[in-house]
Amino acid sequence: MHLPDPMADGDVSLERTIHQRRTIRSFESKALTPKQFSQLLWAAQGITETGGFKRAAASAGALYPMDIYGVVGGDCIEKLDPAVYHYEPTNHTISLVREGDARRDIAIAALSQMWMAHAPLTLVITAEYSRIMGKYGHRGVRYAMIEAGHIGQNIFLQSQAMGLEAGIVGAFEDEKVIEVMGIKKTHEPLLLMPVGYKR
Ligand SMILES: Cc1cc2nc3c(=O)[nH]c(=O)nc-3n(C[C@H](O)[C@H](O)[C@H](O)COP(=O)(O)O)c2cc1C
Repeated sequence: MHLPDPMADGDVSLERTIHQRRTIRSFESKALTPKQFSQLLWAAQGITETGGFKRAAASAGALYPMDIYGVVGGDCIEKLDPAVYHYEPTNHTISLVREGDARRDIAIAALSQMWMAHAPLTLVITAEYSRIMGKYGHRGVRYAMIEAGHIGQNIFLQSQAMGLEAGIVGAFEDEKVIEVMGIKKTHEPLLLMPVGYKR
């Protein structure tokens, strides 16, 4: 499924996004637009090199062991059914992973942090360690975790720049998140980031 083209420019200064960034745990039920969803995915892992493959966040050895999933609720992103979607940076598209609104189950998997279920969208950052351990061995695990931090900050700042807010959640049961989302077991969730309008 194609996404609207992302913008490489905006009206809000980087300094303001850094200054205003906070972890938010209370969200309006207002829906996001496909353009906002597209922009968030681009900021997380979009290709930013014309004719190339390099992405919005740095990656050790440019090996890109990370994946981004969107957990979307019902009436939460205009024209998009509730489901778990996978982001494909190469052609800036999303594909369906699992139908249905998984937000409540994700919140339960995150040690019942039920505030998460009110965010229209939760972006999930996963790592596939085999993609980086071939070159870097066990140090590759460290690198992937660092990359998750870079991606998370991009999501925070891009949210701010669009008048949205984000939360960040590291407390969850890995296997439960994988099961609820219906993703590959090798895609280990590292961060869950609920995004929406602040209430
Ligand atoms: C790796 C990591 C994991 C976190 N996990 C959670 C979490 O599970 N639940 C939560 O409510 N906040 C979580 N936070 C948010 C922190 O509580 C928050 O960043 C901290 O209180 C500082 O506030 P600020 O982000 O608004 O500046 C996490 C933050 C990080 C960086």
